[in-house]
Amino acid sequence: MDLRDEAREAKEAAEKEIKSSKTLADLEASRVKYLGRKGALTLLLRKLAKVDPAERREVGGLLNTIKDQITSEVEAREETLKQAAYSTALTEEALDISLPGRKARIGRLHPTLAVMDQLVDIFVGMGFTPVEGLEVETEYNNFDALNFPPWHPSRDEHDSFYVDSGHVLRTHTSPAQIRVMKSQPPPVRVIVPGRCHRRDTPDASHLVSFYQIEGLFVDYEVSMADLKGTLAAFAREFFGPETLVRFRPHFFPFTEPSAELDISCLVCGGKGCRLCKNSGWLEVLGCGMVHPNVFDHVGYDSYSVTGFAFGMGVERLAMLRYGISDIRLLYENDMRFLNQF
Ligand code: DAH
Repeated sequence: MDLRDEAREAKEAAEKEIKSSKTLADLEASRVKYLGRKGALTLLLRKLAKVDPAERREVGGLLNTIKDQITSEVEAREETLKQAAYSTALTEEALDISLPGRKARIGRLHPTLAVMDQLVDIFVGMGFTPVEGLEVETEYNNFDALNFPPWHPSRDEHDSFYVDSGHVLRTHTSPAQIRVMKSQPPPVRVIVPGRCHRRDTPDASHLVSFYQIEGLFVDYEVSMADLKGTLAAFAREFFGPETLVRFRPHFFPFTEPSAELDISCLVCGGKGCRLCKNSGWLEVLGCGMVHPNVFDHVGYDSYSVTGFAFGMGVERLAMLRYGISDIRLLYENDMRFLNQF
């Protein structure tokens, strides 16, 4: 057969194979089969030497054209196969970024703890150091050292949780005063945040477990004016600069004189409304000048040392601050409620 016909036949066969190759490996096999060192076209080119010199130029030209054509067809097919592989990979390995992600639920402080942090910050700003007391206290620290007489009703088993005959779940943070003063000489300027427990029936303003913050300032010339100035500054800082304060005489065994701090009603500003029961005032905390008997119990010289103390309910302050009407709402773990703060 004429070399030209052989070449055209090889070309036809090569084109068919190239077109039908499904993978790059198939394509490479075809390329080797036609264009490789022992490939069909290469072998034909070698036979060129035996062609009649008069025709050699024309036949050689044809063979080379065919070789170039097959080469570019291999290249074109290679491009097509690569593109196809690429788009398959794109669809198969793709991450569907059009799907909305799942929102991470980020926690936050419970309103009681958030308010406790704010309260602590305010007193730290005034030079008080936060310390911790103990939740299980001696009956002595919780009552006797704080000048509670043995017959005081809150000492009754019906009012407090006794762990054993000498120990009680602290009913207030005040026993921390005793621990602090026993551990160091004056001056003392501490606040004590912590949990307290009382045998109360829960209602809109009482819980069995709740938080208090105790404050204690003892030095040699502390006066009631210091107490009033400190707590008035605190009230304006926590409730707002317009807040008015009044100190109403009260009784606590461990302070003398004792007082309760009231603020002007947050809702009506003092005119009288439902929240303040028409009095214009809201009760905020208890305070007073440390009783000399307390100093005697901790070994301070009650003739030369003076001081003031105060104690506040954290939940109560949170309720006033946020207008919460029932203390129990804070601990029902209802996210619809808690998410508001
Ligand atoms: N311990 C008192 C209570 O739980 C609150 C209190 C009142 C604390 C007067 C004080 C204070 O330090 O001086 O009701």
